[in-house]
Amino acid sequence: MMKSLIVAAAGAATIFAVSVTAAPSAPTRPLAASTRANLEAAMHGEAYANLKYLRYADQAQAAGKPELAKLFRASANVEANEHFDREAQALRLGSSNNVNLEDAMKGEHYENVTMYVNFAKEAEAAGDKKVAQMFRQIAVDEGTHYAAYKAALAKLPRR
Ligand SMILES: [Fe+2]
Ligand SMILES: [Fe+2]
Repeated sequence: MMKSLIVAAAGAATIFAVSVTAAPSAPTRPLAASTRANLEAAMHGEAYANLKYLRYADQAQAAGKPELAKLFRASANVEANEHFDREAQALRLGSSNNVNLEDAMKGEHYENVTMYVNFAKEAEAAGDKKVAQMFRQIAVDEGTHYAAYKAALAKLPRR
């Protein structure tokens, strides 16, 4: 499937035409581990770029630069809705609700009890006390997300 995406950015003079080929459906063999790892890494980068560019757009807008804001928003849209999306399709991200909830719980649990706890300790030791406090607060949020996913999983029919 081919679709053409025209992104107008930073005024009429700058127009990107991006030709997009969707990920092949039903590949005949599983992806290599290295390809899966690269897709995961690329998706992290695309997701980060999306949110970063949206912040940059807000800053440009606040600074009275609407054309620059438009450029950042247009790029952010491509990162999320073209690049991340195509990579997620190639990876076949997500499957059943049960598996998705288990995956989400795993990530939230790790952030809740390991990652943010360690980040907070390191920030505290480095003298960045406000950041340490923020990490501890976010750790609590992640625990809430974990609990909500766990409750949602308990309500699903068993596989
Ligand atoms: Fe990208
Ligand atoms: Fe979370």
